Amino acid sequence: MASVTITNTQKSYGAAKVLHGVDIDIEDGEFVVLVGPSGCGKSTLLRMLAGLESISGGTISIGDKVMNDVPPKQRDIAMVFQNYALYPHMTVEDNMSFSLKLKGVPAEEKKQKVGQAVAILGLENLLGRYPKELSGGQRQRVAMGRAIVRDPQVFLFDEPLSNLDAKLRVQMRAEIKQLHQRLRTTTVYVTHDQIEAMTMADKIVVMRDGGVEQIGTPLDLYDNPANLFVASFLGSPGMNFVTGKISTDDASAFETNGGSRIDLKEAFPGLNGKPVTLGVRPENWTLLPSSERSLEATISVIEPTGAETMLLLGHGKEQLTVSIKQRPRLVVGEQLHLAPQPNSIHLFDTATGRRLN
Ligand SMILES: Nc1ncnc2c1ncn2[C@@H]1O[C@H](COP(=O)(O)OP(=O)(O)OP(=O)(O)O)[C@@H](O)[C@H]1O
Ligand SMILES: [Mg+2]
Repeated sequence: MASVTITNTQKSYGAAKVLHGVDIDIEDGEFVVLVGPSGCGKSTLLRMLAGLESISGGTISIGDKVMNDVPPKQRDIAMVFQNYALYPHMTVEDNMSFSLKLKGVPAEEKKQKVGQAVAILGLENLLGRYPKELSGGQRQRVAMGRAIVRDPQVFLFDEPLSNLDAKLRVQMRAEIKQLHQRLRTTTVYVTHDQIEAMTMADKIVVMRDGGVEQIGTPLDLYDNPANLFVASFLGSPGMNFVTGKISTDDASAFETNGGSRIDLKEAFPGLNGKPVTLGVRPENWTLLPSSERSLEATISVIEPTGAETMLLLGHGKEQLTVSIKQRPRLVVGEQLHLAPQPNSIHLFDTATGRRLN
């Protein structure tokens, strides 16, 4: 096991710059998830870690050794891809032991390592099968087994679950997490699925356009997103955004473009009249009896899910999603009065997207 240090790492393909100086510190044993929209540079960064892409600037270290010019084979990492690329003409057992065979590992040790991985992954009954005789989830497990037997310093995963159906994805997500709790191998995991990121990571790195937007624990990022991008990326359904401005006569009042006025419970002196965007997560609204300082919104859809009720609401030109635990009697077209719960207000500069509180 080892730490991984990515310092001012850059990547260009000819004139096109796809990573602009990325800094990430990964501790020994940590499970780090790189998340971000398609094309933001997640796979490129992972491939640079693996040594499959050259590094155009900056450094990547594993442990205290700079890896920039170390060939992939000598980096002591194991990578699992989206298409697991098992060898079709080899059995499960041979697929798993192949890398050990190449390394010239003695038969006894090989058997012991494969046996261990097989037990961890529950593949005992499938050892003699060929890849085409396996389900997607089983193939996925064999691909992980191949990585485990190598006992690497670092695991790299690039969207390993995206070929699986929704149910299997949830199951495998938990299995990979358990695997990490057991082996404690430093792991870098790429996904564009924010739920995967939230549920699996010790630390999430949110990327956009070849740069890092924010790094933190899942709940750090959920509770204190640094900007509108991170705020909108994490959470499902996503955070509600209401545009407006800080009142000119009261630095703790927010006037929405839809004509409501809300108490922010915190003053923003000097920002009077400034265009800002209020962010409130669906679960952080309270329904009020008609009152002056509330946001007025009209119900357009009611979705009872049993555990909670989702309300889709219109406020001026904006749409809100509100989730409530109670089951009040409501009808479509009804007007509601909402207020953000205390300590659940996120305020952003509309022009820059940066967090203000
Ligand atoms: N060999 C290449 N030559 C030129 N541009 C490339 C090459 N490989 C990747 N890119 C570009 O680099 C950028 C980052 O690509 P990358 O594959 O890292 O994205 P990603 O975040 O993994 O996206 P996805 O979620 O779709 O897998 C993209 O704009 C892509 O077009
Ligand atoms: Mg990718």
